[in-house]
Amino acid sequence: MKRRAFLKSAAAAGAASLLPAGVLGSVLSGCKPAGAGASWNFDEVIDRSGTWSIKQSRAVDGKLAMWIADMDFKTDPVVRAALEQRIDRDVMGYTFTPEAYYEALMHWERTRHGFEVEREWVGACPGVIGSICQAYLTFTEPGDRIVVQPPVYNPFRDFAVRLGREVVDNPLVCRDGRYEMDLEGLERVLDARTKVLVLCNPHNPVGILWSRETLARLAEICERHGVIVFSDEIHADLPLYGRRHVPFCSACDAAARIGLTFAAPTKSFNLAGLTGTAYCIIPDPEKRKRFYDTLRSVKQSEPSVLSLVATIAAYTHEPEWLDSLTHYLDGTVDYVMDSLEAGPAGIKAVRPEASFLVWLDCRGLQLSQPDLMHLFNEEAGVVVNDGSSYGTGGEGFVRLNVGCPRSVVAEAVSRIRDAVAKL
Ligand SMILES: Cc1ncc(COP(=O)(O)O)c(C=O)c1O
Repeated sequence: MKRRAFLKSAAAAGAASLLPAGVLGSVLSGCKPAGAGASWNFDEVIDRSGTWSIKQSRAVDGKLAMWIADMDFKTDPVVRAALEQRIDRDVMGYTFTPEAYYEALMHWERTRHGFEVEREWVGACPGVIGSICQAYLTFTEPGDRIVVQPPVYNPFRDFAVRLGREVVDNPLVCRDGRYEMDLEGLERVLDARTKVLVLCNPHNPVGILWSRETLARLAEICERHGVIVFSDEIHADLPLYGRRHVPFCSACDAAARIGLTFAAPTKSFNLAGLTGTAYCIIPDPEKRKRFYDTLRSVKQSEPSVLSLVATIAAYTHEPEWLDSLTHYLDGTVDYVMDSLEAGPAGIKAVRPEASFLVWLDCRGLQLSQPDLMHLFNEEAGVVVNDGSSYGTGGEGFVRLNVGCPRSVVAEAVSRIRDAVAKL
């Protein structure tokens, strides 16, 4: 749907009257930036001190904090303006979820990801990991098996274990520097006790955008074994180099029958501190009812007013800011690839297809994992995530967050090179 048509339908749905006066109007027109680069500057180094930033809390003694997955950029000015205008209304009372919220999510999935989502399929939910935990509780019992595909975002495993579920690995395979799912391996690990597979789409930390064909094959195998798929699509809005993200539930009919999608604007619009800003898409009515019964039973299905405002703003207006951001990230990733290719020997970057996380293969340095972490975090003063925390296949790797001005990335690369040269 074109922006104007969407505006009309949002207005027809009562969006304008459901939002605080002025917010929708300014989101859609008044705050529209003059053009790419005119109202934002990703090269600007933002002072995050005193903001309780978890990431920057490790930027001590001159270290560069390039670990946990938020970015050091200002959010989209349109989102900021919408939040400001809502705060200007002073009263933050109990708030219902307006129709504009559902319209915004459906509009975004359709225009950005080519996914025709029906109104009933979408709902607000707590953060992505909180929602996956609620889904574990809904669809599995203690002792049931949950499949993850490491190296992968570690909370999938950690929370499943905490909840008394058994985690089974189906590790990714890496062929010529490119990661793939091991679908034959998957057939072997699935059994009657396996109830869920957690898919990371796009994949953190290896940065893969899964193809429609892979997702459809995955869906066919899982459905045949009675396994449902939780698809974490939190990085979906950040495909690089003009690529497209394929939502799991849109891959084929089987995927729509067995899939639950969890997503949020928090990575792409850099709103991770605005917790509780996630949403889910569940096409199958029976699964949807079960999941929402759980969420409602623990009062977890009511987003905060600021989450609503930020999501509607992010997903309603023309995404110039986001397009500029991904373009900037393309350049940063190219820079990291080129400079690490030129040396030091022993480190190879895996080119991400999405998001701002670069998976560095450091096995060529032949260091133990503690020594590798010491090299990055202490010798180079570049705080990264430990590859081994992502499970099987993570040993010898680190994850570098390049969601920051390119000057900081250049400084990090230079420090890494110097530290390796001194080995
Ligand atoms: C793949 C993935 N899922 C979920 C999260 C966290 O989501 P939330 O903060 O909504 O729980 C992250 C954060 O880094 C992530 O990378």
